[in-house]
Amino acid sequence: MDWEFLVNKALEARDNAYVPYSNFRVGAAVLTVDEKIFTGCNVENSSYGATICAERTAIVKAVSAGESELIAIAIASDSSSLTFPCGICRQVISEFANEDTKFICSNKNGEYKIYNMDELLPHAFSKDDLGYNSLG
Ligand code: THU
Repeated sequence: MDWEFLVNKALEARDNAYVPYSNFRVGAAVLTVDEKIFTGCNVENSSYGATICAERTAIVKAVSAGESELIAIAIASDSSSLTFPCGICRQVISEFANEDTKFICSNKNGEYKIYNMDELLPHAFSKDDLGYNSLG
């Protein structure tokens, strides 16, 4: 996969962000093992805690379409710095990631750096901790 393609999908998804409170637009695009792409944006709410991040929007779309194994996730915002997923999103991504899943953290110009799960969420709490080693 051409990572620039996935980054551009995240940048496109950012355009649909609903951000009347923070005005901070985020877009995400996930690539699944079946080579499907699902995109998402952040969707804010007047009850601030009900806000959904772009990464979780994209993942929930993928999983609800039957695609729960992630090859990569690209994240982008309007910032000239790279955008990284928040802590809650790192935990949610880890549920569907493996040691090879790539995090393509991008800036508004489409420049990016690639990280892996262990770099962004070392010692993650997982289904293994619950004794559910064989959960699908
Ligand atoms: N946001 C995301 O969509 N993803 C992240 O990983 C960081 C934060 C959103 C949530 C909120 O709408 C806005 O950015 C400011 O926190």
